Amino acid sequence: MPEKNPDSAKQPRVSRRKLIKWGLAGLASASLVEGFLLEPHRVRLHSTRIPIDGLGAAFAGYKVAVISDFHIPHFVSEGYIRGAIGLALAEKPDIILLPGDFCNSHGAFGMKADLPVPDLAPYLSSLAATDGVYGVLGNHDYWLDAKGVMDSLTGTPVKVLRNENLILRRGSDSLAIVGTPDLWEDDIDLAAAFDGIPADTPRIMMQHNPDLCEEFPEGHRVDLQVSGHTHGGQVRIPFGPALLLPTKYGNKYREGLVDGPRHRVYVTRGVGMSSTLPVRFCCPPEVTLLELIQA
Ligand SMILES: [Fe+2]
Repeated sequence: MPEKNPDSAKQPRVSRRKLIKWGLAGLASASLVEGFLLEPHRVRLHSTRIPIDGLGAAFAGYKVAVISDFHIPHFVSEGYIRGAIGLALAEKPDIILLPGDFCNSHGAFGMKADLPVPDLAPYLSSLAATDGVYGVLGNHDYWLDAKGVMDSLTGTPVKVLRNENLILRRGSDSLAIVGTPDLWEDDIDLAAAFDGIPADTPRIMMQHNPDLCEEFPEGHRVDLQVSGHTHGGQVRIPFGPALLLPTKYGNKYREGLVDGPRHRVYVTRGVGMSSTLPVRFCCPPEVTLLELIQA
């Protein structure tokens, strides 16, 4: 019978430890590649149906495309943005809403400020929808230069709604689109924003920051708020919460359709990234298609 090598009992333990180390190193490397190089560019269309109280039959099936948080020009190429817009255009939306952060306020990794406003036309010129393309500015647009961003948007199909609305009419049915400026960086004037909308007209309100939903006063009907701002958290624990969110309400307004105290809000993950954290993990970019249906 062969003699047992006295060292042989130790060898598997060392090998197992090495295997675990290599496994963890491989997992970390794969996560970094996924988070910094792959997932940020893997934009997909997310479609959902939203019941709206009092929606007229003429607006049943109305398609609202939502694209948010471009954060141009950092870490997003013209081709990437045009591709994201193409996902929306393929659905033939009735209207396109852009709830802010067209630009990014700082350079890579948040290190550089006082940047010039980029020319937005090469990125956004393909936007088109039957009833038009409307937006509101986000906090990054104000931090960069709100007037400069507005000037740059004049070269695109985007019309900014700042404390104003438009009423869409189809026969005797109507739907209002309301634009409110950023909760953190501008003055919201709800009287002006909702001025002239008949009480029985359903309304969708664009606001960059979902927190407005929580702080919205009584007196103005909102059937749906459309927001971005959170980016879904950008980095998430697999099947778990986001690590960091720019909201006072934790993960409540992280993404998707949320019931607020007075009205519902749809929070889109958006297509870009904040330059202070140019990574997405378990939180891919999203172009959203909301199909309105009668409640
Ligand atoms: Fe943003």
